[in-house]
Amino acid sequence: PAPTPGFPLPTEHTQEAFDPASDFTSKWTRADAKQIMAQSDPTVAPGENSMSPDVTMPEIPEDFPAMNDDVWVWDTWSLTDENANQISYKGWDVVFSLVADRHAGYGFDQRHWNARIGYFFRKTNADPAKDKWNYGGHVFADGASIGNTEWSGSTRLMQGNQVNVFYTATTFYDVAERNAGGGGIAPDAAIAKALGKIHADENGVTFDGFKHTKLLEPDGEMYQTKEQNPGFAFRDPYTFADPAHPGKTFMVFEGNTGGTRGEYECKPEDLGYRPGDANAESVDEVNSSGAYYQTANVGLAVADNKDLTKWSFLPPILSANCVNDQTERPQIFIQNEGGKNKYYLFTISHQFTYAAGMRGPDGVYGFVGDGVRSDYQPMNNSGLALGSPTDLNLPSESPEAPTPNQNGRQFQAYSHYVQPGGLVQSFIDNVNGVRGGSLSPTVKINFRDGISQVDRTFGQDGLGPFGYLPTNVRVGGEGHY
Ligand code: FRU
Repeated sequence: PAPTPGFPLPTEHTQEAFDPASDFTSKWTRADAKQIMAQSDPTVAPGENSMSPDVTMPEIPEDFPAMNDDVWVWDTWSLTDENANQISYKGWDVVFSLVADRHAGYGFDQRHWNARIGYFFRKTNADPAKDKWNYGGHVFADGASIGNTEWSGSTRLMQGNQVNVFYTATTFYDVAERNAGGGGIAPDAAIAKALGKIHADENGVTFDGFKHTKLLEPDGEMYQTKEQNPGFAFRDPYTFADPAHPGKTFMVFEGNTGGTRGEYECKPEDLGYRPGDANAESVDEVNSSGAYYQTANVGLAVADNKDLTKWSFLPPILSANCVNDQTERPQIFIQNEGGKNKYYLFTISHQFTYAAGMRGPDGVYGFVGDGVRSDYQPMNNSGLALGSPTDLNLPSESPEAPTPNQNGRQFQAYSHYVQPGGLVQSFIDNVNGVRGGSLSPTVKINFRDGISQVDRTFGQDGLGPFGYLPTNVRVGGEGHY
């Protein structure tokens, strides 16, 4: 693409694959993420959407339906296999969601401190536009999980009717913090799993027999600990097999660069400017802006045994040092392009977690390379794959306190997850001041060679059914129990 006057060129990335166990960490650089603004329209009327329609999620109507009247629903994932196929089990589609009680006296923004993993099921041949998801309740019994709050993860069907629920075991020590939402004693975070059983009959789906195992806690070297930074992130495990390394199981997760908060120094490779670029920033300039506070990474771990109860850390596959502080709910999506497997790393991020001098929307970001560990090319040159409609010419805000002159849909959706076929599900956060807690209409993105485009022929002007998480692989027949 032609360079935008006044903006730097993006970093050159080869997409070359490295051994997953090697220590090459791809950088989402400032030069890359600056392309978000380079591609944004500086002339829109204040509060309009300034982003290209190709990367803008179509507008969610204000009168969206509630998925459930008793619980708020946010981060959601399907029952999958090790290849990210979404499994219909004995004729039922099953999804897992973070849920919080709508009637317990706390507000929607306090949901994180009260999160549990719940599940929903629906007949595989249901009409996604008409048939509601049935709420099955919490997956784990009260008090059974490691930690006192359950944060995101992923669920895999194993042999027979065994399931592994990978999750973030978060432990808050401060009741006041749980009720007020933040600012108190830092929580513990561990990546855990629970092995249990799924049962299905003509009435629906149940789970039992969960045995919980703690898998990983941050090491302070590659992955930041709470002692190093009370606002650290260590969460959202997603496991998968890599056809290039048969027999191994990998996990990606959200982390931060190890080290004490504030001590990181931005490096030339974090900036990623090409030599002689007239629009480059200097390392000193960036460091004196305070951008070193933002140190997101996407972590990688490998299982040491078949039971997936023992894991070893590998170096992060992506870092966003001096760019952004959170790369959440990472997933690996493998797509065959011209006879070759291309690895797409998708991760969600917020506008308020960008470093000084950087600006981008809430949404899902993507990176493409030739392997799980590769010199990832940011999708659309910037990394942005799909964002909520936002006027990026205005300063960044947070969903709890948006201003009326911004686009009312800047926080319409979050926690996007790319399903087979490019179907992107997410949850509704704030549509023109109407708070969500329910699944968004699913949208579709078409992508190849690292370039993506919202498919506006899908559904109604690009909006598919609410909470459309279809299955693509059937296990155990269709209702033959
Ligand atoms: C994304 C997220 C996850 C976390 C959860 C907590 O929406 O921040 O990283 O597991 O929400 O509610």
